[in-house]
Amino acid sequence: MKDLEDERLLTSHLLGEDRYGDNSLRPICLSEYIGQEKVKENIAIFVSAALERRESLDHVLLSGPPGLGKTTLAAIIAHEMKTSIKKTSGPAIERPGDLAAILTNLEPGEVLFIDEIHRLNRSVEEIMYPAMEDYVLDIIIGKGPAARTLRIDLEAFTLIGATTRPGLLTSPLRDRFGITCRLDYYTENELASIIARTAKILGINITIAGAEEIARRSRGTPRIANRLLKRVRDYALVKETGIIEEDVAARALKLFEIDTYGLDNVDRMILEAIIVKFNGGPVGLETLAACVSEEPDTLTDVYEPYLLKMGFIHKTPRGRVATEIAYRLMNLNQPRTMEVNTLFKDVSDHS
Ligand SMILES: Nc1ncnc2c1ncn2[C@@H]1O[C@H](COP(=O)(O)OP(=O)(O)O)[C@@H](O)[C@H]1O
Ligand SMILES: [Mg+2]
Repeated sequence: MKDLEDERLLTSHLLGEDRYGDNSLRPICLSEYIGQEKVKENIAIFVSAALERRESLDHVLLSGPPGLGKTTLAAIIAHEMKTSIKKTSGPAIERPGDLAAILTNLEPGEVLFIDEIHRLNRSVEEIMYPAMEDYVLDIIIGKGPAARTLRIDLEAFTLIGATTRPGLLTSPLRDRFGITCRLDYYTENELASIIARTAKILGINITIAGAEEIARRSRGTPRIANRLLKRVRDYALVKETGIIEEDVAARALKLFEIDTYGLDNVDRMILEAIIVKFNGGPVGLETLAACVSEEPDTLTDVYEPYLLKMGFIHKTPRGRVATEIAYRLMNLNQPRTMEVNTLFKDVSDHS
């Protein structure tokens, strides 16, 4: 699975290059953050109010598919609050003691960013509740009848949690976030602006039409837009004049086998598996994942949200089904049973 993922140009998980090259591309303040207008508007209000009251910002939950700007936004919020940020992730906090160490080391008003917060361990999560609510740590010392609870006061802090799967959060945890923001896929115009901005930072020569061509094929995702821009730049330098014009971008992306909907080989494998191997579906997550040699989680987090959004697949209680447009895309004929399949009620929950 990893091999496929690493080779995949469209993947919105972090690849090595992005890990290092990313920071210079990240917008620092809210006004530089392109798109997500509703989210920005809300955050601007809550930040101003908190600053005015001289309080720390309420805890924030950011959700949305990978690569849409959750980590970036968390850093921006800390910047706007004129405070610093400490970053960790759900799976990295293994034991309650790990979280206690992190929490007791926070500066007053600091932001604690926990990525993949849906993967927090249960025992760790329980320590989090009083910490979020009353800025206290309840530590149990000893076992059995002799056990005592020791209460430690914490500095006020803001927890920013990021998740690709908000449905997997327990409700006690979800309820403790005062602010929840759902990031959505970006429009082509927004992506074109992001590409133009990145091109300027990296000194890449690109026309507006060139940026729009890349934007169209970036699956609504800034991380993918930035990655495609870099690959198209390489192509333009080696094969063309170095300037990314519309036709140059189109030729490059065709060479990389990314189609006009932004779908790549793995997406097409998924659609083909549903249509050819499972007769249009429904097919369960595990079965489908095994068929395309991907982890079920990768399928739900990375591939499915976009295929759903584009209307290529539907989720039904019995599994995924391919839609009519998926058949058209793949140039395959739709069997009659499909009509029955599409009658199933949609399941909007992504988990
Ligand atoms: N609104 C935005 N404007 C400009 N660049 C963005 C925006 N959102 C994300 N990016 C860029 O996309 C990349 C991925 O963003 P990131 O915050 O790491 O996504 P996530 O944490 O949701 O996976 C970053 O390099 C960032 O520079
Ligand atoms: Mg992130």
